[in-house]
Amino acid sequence: MIISRRAEFSASHICRNPNLSEEENVRLYGAAANPNGHGHNYVLEVALEGTPDAVTGMIFDLKDLKDIMNREVIDPMDHRHLNFEVPPFDKVIPTTENIAIEIWGRLAPQFEGTPARLHAVRLYETEDTFVDYFGK
Ligand code: NI
Repeated sequence: MIISRRAEFSASHICRNPNLSEEENVRLYGAAANPNGHGHNYVLEVALEGTPDAVTGMIFDLKDLKDIMNREVIDPMDHRHLNFEVPPFDKVIPTTENIAIEIWGRLAPQFEGTPARLHAVRLYETEDTFVDYFGK
């Protein structure tokens, strides 16, 4: 069984690879390569897998999941410029893919020793575009 929680955060980013030419960056990333950066209202969905506990009937307390998401992701990333304020995005291009990988890395260890396991991180960059990451 899967339980999920959604949260939103707003952040700015620049998508460009310093090892590539200006022309190549514009070709790959379009306006997102602009060094002034631009913002998104990201929507994060975190899914946990497990079996409801015999006593509590819960896989994981969703209030605790909210606290974990706030502490590990929302508080550090909301209203930040990812490239300048949120490592490792000073070195890693903050595409939606790479942000989802980073979020997975922050969240997965939080469930060690609990009956729940991180199943998926879904990150929407726009209403129409999103990434699913399952740890691979
Ligand atoms: Ni963007």
